[in-house]
Amino acid sequence: MSGHVPVMLAEIVAQLAPRDGGVYLDGTFGGGGYARAILDSAACTLWAIDRDPDAIERGASLVARYPGRLHLLHGPFGDMVDLLHGAGVTALDGVVLDLGVSSFQLDDPSRGFSFRADGPLDMRMGKHGPTAADLVNTLAERELADVLFQFGEERASRRIARAIVAARADAPIETTGRLAEIIRGVLPPDRSGIHPATRSFQALRIRVNDELGQIERALSAAASLLAPEGRLVVVSFHSLEDRLVKRFMIDATGRAAAPSRHDPRGLTQAADAAFHLLTPKALRPTEAETQANPRARSARLRAMQRLSSTGERNAATMKDKSGDRRRALQAPGRAGSVAMPVGAARGHQDLRVDQGFRALRVDQGSRALRVDQDSRALRVDQDFRALRVDQDFRALRALHVCCDSRTPGRDMGLNGGAA
Ligand SMILES: C[S@@+](CC[C@H](N)C(=O)[O-])C[C@H]1O[C@@H](n2cnc3c(N)ncnc32)[C@H](O)[C@@H]1O
Repeated sequence: MSGHVPVMLAEIVAQLAPRDGGVYLDGTFGGGGYARAILDSAACTLWAIDRDPDAIERGASLVARYPGRLHLLHGPFGDMVDLLHGAGVTALDGVVLDLGVSSFQLDDPSRGFSFRADGPLDMRMGKHGPTAADLVNTLAERELADVLFQFGEERASRRIARAIVAARADAPIETTGRLAEIIRGVLPPDRSGIHPATRSFQALRIRVNDELGQIERALSAAASLLAPEGRLVVVSFHSLEDRLVKRFMIDATGRAAAPSRHDPRGLTQAADAAFHLLTPKALRPTEAETQANPRARSARLRAMQRLSSTGERNAATMKDKSGDRRRALQAPGRAGSVAMPVGAARGHQDLRVDQGFRALRVDQGSRALRVDQDSRALRVDQDFRALRVDQDFRALRALHVCCDSRTPGRDMGLNGGAA
């Protein structure tokens, strides 16, 4: 059995940004790849959950390697609040979720996740409850077709369900090999190179483990556990997962009500939003990673951060190119106000942001320019639409400044005053 190669590991650590003294949760411990990287990147404490008892057992050696810093909890991540409260943890500085199954599970024929080797048709991550065999042998044909369509986006769901029901009348379907064979009888391999049973196996796995329900519960639970400035980072592997994550983050960051993508009001974070998006567009693995690890090919990483709840003093300092004129954008202690004595001339500008500034966004929403907690430098991480920001931030024309979750923010031109 092979090990699990963690997907988008560098990106995960960069988005989570663990800090010394922080308390984090890895909701999908798996082979412990993320856990190790997080623990190595800061003197932090990590709680890690996995519903698979094998993963927890395998993690014992890692627990010993990080005495007092890594704690494993067995159970579904949808129950993270209860699991953590039971351990006395009520707030977190960050949560990571790496959805789906691990290579340990996929590559072990006895777990029944894969049609590549024959094994019992099981697919239970937690090793309890109904198996995939129970479903294919007992669900009504229509229900089976719905599962394949809903969770596998399988267009031939009705034909496959009919073939399954016909085959199980001969003998119960007990193995991955037999199920794959039945599906291949309905859908011969096409030129895509994708095995015809891929979507049906995904559908059954999602249904057996209630994966989408788990994700919904986990996202809400994680958001409720995050302390101010805490981050939620999620890697998903197919569109059903990613859609849930994307929608949740859009809602949590108050971006749902965009009347039009051209209307800047719709792109501006709602005044009462508790989070801001760290990844306005999902991050994808590099070409080099997908070459080295084909499993990474479909990965999408999304992250958001809880805003600071204090109306604390934030500051961004802008200086002109020559560096001799500096004006501060000061957010006084009172939440909801930003003084804007920005007097620098239009034209080429450098922009420096002092540590502690929580949210600095460009007028068309924070699609590309943002300041992270503890960041001293502005980062440009996406293609800009409305503003042009070159590498040296010399073409910045307008800013939207937001101090905390209760502050609606204000637009300002760089020639002073509101834009
Ligand atoms: C993709 S692997 C994680 C790999 C891990 N990031 C690493 O670097 O080794 C996903 C893991 O999450 C676990 N898992 C999936 N859904 C879960 C859930 N609802 N609750 C708890 N664990 C879950 C699986 O059992 C599996 O071990």
